[in-house]
Amino acid sequence: MRGRMLRLKHLSSLVSGLPGAGRPSAAASQSTAYTIERMCGIVGYVGERNSLDVLMGGLRRLEYRGYDSAGVAVIDDEGEIETAKRAGKLQVLADELERHPIHRGGTGIGHTRWATHGGPTDRNAHPHLGDDGRLALIHNGIIENFSELKDELLAEGFAFESETDTEVAAVLLGREYRRTGDLRSAFQAIVSRFEGAFTLLAVHRNEPGLVVGARRNSPLVIGLGEGENFLGSDVAAFVEFTKRAVAIGQDQIVAITADEVTVTDFDGEPVEVEPFEVAWDASAAEKGGWSSFMRKEVSEQPEAVANTLLGRVVDGQVHIPELESFGDDELRAIHRITVIACGTAAYAGMVAKYAIEQWARVPVEVELSHEFRYREPVLDEGTLVISISQSGETMDTLMAVKYAREMGARTISICNTQGATIPRESDAVVYTHAGPEVAVASTKAFVAQIAALYLFGLHLARVRGTLSETELGKQLAELQSVPEKIRTVLGEAEHVGELAHWMADTRSVLFLGRHVGYPIALEGALKLKELAYIHAEGFAAGELKHGPIALIEPGQPVFVIVPSPRGSATLHPKVVSNIQEIRARGARVIAIAEEGDAAVLPFADEVLRIPLAAPLFEPLLAVVPLQIFAMELAQAKGLDVDQPRNLAKSVTVE
Ligand code: M6R
Repeated sequence: MRGRMLRLKHLSSLVSGLPGAGRPSAAASQSTAYTIERMCGIVGYVGERNSLDVLMGGLRRLEYRGYDSAGVAVIDDEGEIETAKRAGKLQVLADELERHPIHRGGTGIGHTRWATHGGPTDRNAHPHLGDDGRLALIHNGIIENFSELKDELLAEGFAFESETDTEVAAVLLGREYRRTGDLRSAFQAIVSRFEGAFTLLAVHRNEPGLVVGARRNSPLVIGLGEGENFLGSDVAAFVEFTKRAVAIGQDQIVAITADEVTVTDFDGEPVEVEPFEVAWDASAAEKGGWSSFMRKEVSEQPEAVANTLLGRVVDGQVHIPELESFGDDELRAIHRITVIACGTAAYAGMVAKYAIEQWARVPVEVELSHEFRYREPVLDEGTLVISISQSGETMDTLMAVKYAREMGARTISICNTQGATIPRESDAVVYTHAGPEVAVASTKAFVAQIAALYLFGLHLARVRGTLSETELGKQLAELQSVPEKIRTVLGEAEHVGELAHWMADTRSVLFLGRHVGYPIALEGALKLKELAYIHAEGFAAGELKHGPIALIEPGQPVFVIVPSPRGSATLHPKVVSNIQEIRARGARVIAIAEEGDAAVLPFADEVLRIPLAAPLFEPLLAVVPLQIFAMELAQAKGLDVDQPRNLAKSVTVE
């Protein structure tokens, strides 16, 4: 163990007899519509502060994780449990607490929820109660076998208020508490019975000053304070108060009091933990005067790339100490790379495929994590699996990484979140240093992921001797010039904004790209779908004539990412021909082209300019106007760009 050792102890059971449970309700026992949790934000606190303030502040920073209902439970200074929960955004709960304040208390838990099935209602919001209201519990994840557990509890006469799997955990915990009289022991007795993914936190009125939690396949981080301790789904929950944190491992139970933190495995055996320092300030997770997190994060892209490169280019050489466990011989022996990721992260992988193959001459395949695991992929010790995840918690990617390791592949994680689960499950991690990304739509993490992957590609090329020193130096210089060039593109944001406002009534937009422009076309379409709820498709421009061109009708807006005329001799003219083809059929063409490219002018209705860059680096610039376009168009439609409907920031179930 490195760093400060936490005080650890074996958890002992206390037995006390407590009154019996409630009676079954007809409504609950007949219910068939179950609400399943998908992804939520969790906060816990014990200390001298008024826990409600800590919980509401933490929930505000975690609201990106889920925003269809919220709730808190506080053990007040009289030792009573007080709860409040409401469907809707966190502000609805805040308003409710304004109208009906709850008493001061130093111990509490709070929750923001995102549900997949069943309406987000007050009743289904967390916390849920057990032990006749003496115990409150919150949950992130899915308890897959909750139905059978519920039947067991119903048969014993327990009652349920909601349709959630979470309430089953609360009632089960309450039952065990009545047997053991000790919250830690009660947790230990129930957690092994759950199948699926969960982070659970609970408080019991008989043990004020204590919050107990457990996790499996779902995140939980401890914040270590002086005379106070915190729990959170991620460090944003408590970074305002402390930057010392500990990530809880798989199948572990944690108990915090004001002065002590204990971590055990599910059998109660003490676990060694390794504290780390959070690398960013609380202000990084605040809007800081911007109208939205997304607008702020788009503007932070130059720093996201620069910070990801910082300290990793030394004397003109790539230097990635995190990869020391991968010796040069091992990197030379790799005969294939498989990249696994979802959504925007997968598009970053697609961009990097072109660069890594060109530089290091290793075949790279990019696969969606949720497809990868179910097709019996061919993996061996010569396969390197690189996962990409901003949150480090995407369940599909986590499961794919675990599967790859089981199959004998070596794994590297590209991740933006310290202490997250995917890096912990990988052989090595290269962190992107984009800072906290709060808006659901991924922007600055995307460019930082490409920067980290490019560093890796250049490192691999050097080790394998596939690029000369001169060529390596040239590519590194290009990479280091990216932040300034992104700044230039951001300077054109106003023009893109005008275009978006002018197109606010558009019902469908197409995106075309070729080579590295193709994943950017896909990313442009994804941004527009998720933010502006507009039908959007991205295509490889060469594919147009194989079907998609049938979609073109007069007035159809089409964004075209035009490759540099200074790149491949054939690519630029081919894309210009594509533009002519769609223009001839009435398309309204918006070209994203480098400065000075005059060939597009006769055929494009609008041209958005990006600075000159080597072809492989154009994606880092071309994506920016597309992000801004989607954001502005969504705002023109009056939509919430930080929290689009039906989405959550990280998807922590499969
Ligand atoms: O946290 P991750 O990078 O693993 O998330 C992957 C996707 O869920 C994510 O990129 C998603 O597609 C974004 N909402 C896109 O903006």
